[in-house]
Formats: sequence, structure tokens, C-alpha cells
Amino acid sequence: MNHNDKVVVITGAANGIGAQLTRKLAAEGAKLALADIDATNLNAIADELAAAGNRPLAAVLDVSDGDALEAFAASVYDAYDHVDYCFANAGVISIGSVWGTPKADWDWLWQTNTMGPVNTIRAFIPRMIEQPEESHFITTASIAGLLTVENSPAYVASKFASLSLTEVLELQLQQQNAKVRAHAICPAIVKSDLLNCARHRVPGTWDPADPYYRSDDFRTRAAAAAGSMESMAMPTEQAVDCIVKAVDDGVFYILTHPAYNPAILGRVQGIVSGARPTLVQR
Ligand SMILES: NC(=O)c1ccc[n+]([C@@H]2O[C@H](COP(=O)([O-])OP(=O)(O)OC[C@H]3O[C@@H](n4cnc5c(N)ncnc54)[C@H](O)[C@@H]3O)[C@@H](O)[C@H]2O)c1
Repeated sequence: MNHNDKVVVITGAANGIGAQLTRKLAAEGAKLALADIDATNLNAIADELAAAGNRPLAAVLDVSDGDALEAFAASVYDAYDHVDYCFANAGVISIGSVWGTPKADWDWLWQTNTMGPVNTIRAFIPRMIEQPEESHFITTASIAGLLTVENSPAYVASKFASLSLTEVLELQLQQQNAKVRAHAICPAIVKSDLLNCARHRVPGTWDPADPYYRSDDFRTRAAAAAGSMESMAMPTEQAVDCIVKAVDDGVFYILTHPAYNPAILGRVQGIVSGARPTLVQR
């Protein structure tokens, strides 16, 4: 697919997967509209693109704020008239046990990982449906929307929700004969800044001194997550090349790590045979 002059919206564009999507598609001549809560890195990537002759629209916003996304969508349509690809990509993670994870973490992940895509759908999909051009709405869910992994329950719950809402989106777009296709990206571990995401938290909405963050349970799980990111992460460029190709090929469930396919099949087989959940082998 030729991406020259395609209009691409990316939330969570300032770091990791979103930043690599931005760089790849900008290098291919796309017109970018970028949003992120991280003003410093968003401005840096906008400056980097501008220095290369590609001037993106950039908005500092929190995807949990539906009004901010609505204003962003209005500005994108003012600037570009239409959207070819909209990536609802911003996301955060928290680590912990189901019972120990502080409530503020559950709220933060639900608002960012689940309501973020909902707010992006509410802002962009009604406009995309009205366009004569075909377009794509892409949610970055996770392999943790297909498999239950043990160290990040709020993340898994929020990603199962973001994946299922994207499935419903696709069904409703089909019902309407809309020229918009939905896609769900389901990566396993990809090199990014994800484990450093607490820096985006809004002061006053959580307690960094919560004793749970000093517990052995938290420290053990956090060390396991850091170890996996260190030893197993796929290079960001490789994941993003796979994602962009799969979107253009019309794939709905975009699986960047085929090594997990047997575990996905095993989960479904376990459900119908009445088995108890087991740890995913990595
Ligand atoms: N890296 C992985 O291993 C992995 C695996 C599966 C899924 N994912 C998903 O990929 C997406 C991108 O994450 P990443 O791994 O590149 O991490 P990252 O931290 O490098 O990038 C995430 C971006 O989202 C932004 N962001 C966070 N909260 C926001 C908010 N409330 N509003 C606006 N922007 C916000 C951050 O500032 C950051 O730029 C996330 O949805 C994540 O859950 C990542």
C-alpha cells in the first residue's frame, strides 16, 4: 500500500509503538495528526518530522478526556478533510495481584486503555463513516486481550475489554455497510517505554506512597515484567512493519508474535473442555 498523502491519526504517538508508526508512515509521505499526554516527547517527534519537511498536527491530550478527543477530531478534519487510518494506540500498564492492586490503578487503566479507545471511536468513527474514502480504525489491544497473563490483572482486564469493543465496532460497521474497517493489534512484548508509564499519572489521582508498591508481591511481579521486557522484547521496527502490513492486508486480529498461537488455541480448547486456566508458557 502506498501511504503517500494518507491522513494518519495516532494517539500515544510520542513513544514506543506509536512513535515508530509515526516515523515509518511520515517517511512514506503520510500526513500525521498526533496526540499524546507526554508533551515533551510529542513536541520532540513533531520537531523531528518538521525538520524532515513533514509538519504534523500535534495535540497534547489525555485519551480519557472525551471532550479533548472530540476537539482533536474537529481540528484533524479542519486540517485534512478526512482520515485514512486512525490508531487508538495510547496505553499504560500496572503490575500487581488482583487483590493488592490499588483501586487508583484499576481506574487509571480502565480510563486509559478501555475508555481511551471508546473516546477515540466516539470522536472519529461518526466522521469516518460519512467519508466517501475507505478508512481504517485500529485499536492497539494486546496479546493480553486474548490470553490471561498473571502479573498485570488491570491491564489484562482493560485489554480484553478494548479487544471486544473493537470486535463489536467491526460488526456494527458491517451492519451499516460502512467503508470503515476495524482492526485490533494484539502484540506480545515489544520494545517500548511502557514499563515507565507511571510518569504520565496525574498528581492527586493516586498515592505513589501506597504501601503495596513496597510489598514483596509487587516487587517480585515488577521484576518479572522488567525481565521479560529486557530479554524477550521484539524490536519496535519489526512489530510496526508487521502491524502496517497486516492493516493493509485487511487482517482484523493482528498477531505480531506467532509463537503464542498455540497458547491462544489452547485457551479456546480449555474453555470448551471445562479446564482451569493455566500459566502461559513463554
Ligand atoms: N510494548 C509492549 O510490549 C506492548 C504489548 C502489547 C500491547 N501494547 C500496547 O501498545 C500501546 C503502545 O504502548 P507502548 O508499548 O508503545 O508504550 P509506550 O509507553 O512507549 O507508549 C505509549 C504512549 O501512550 C502515551 N499515553 C499514555 N497514557 C496516555 C493518555 N492517558 N493519553 C494520551 N497518551 C497517553 C504515552 O505518553 C506514550 O507516548 C499501548 O496500548 C500498549 O498497551 C504494548
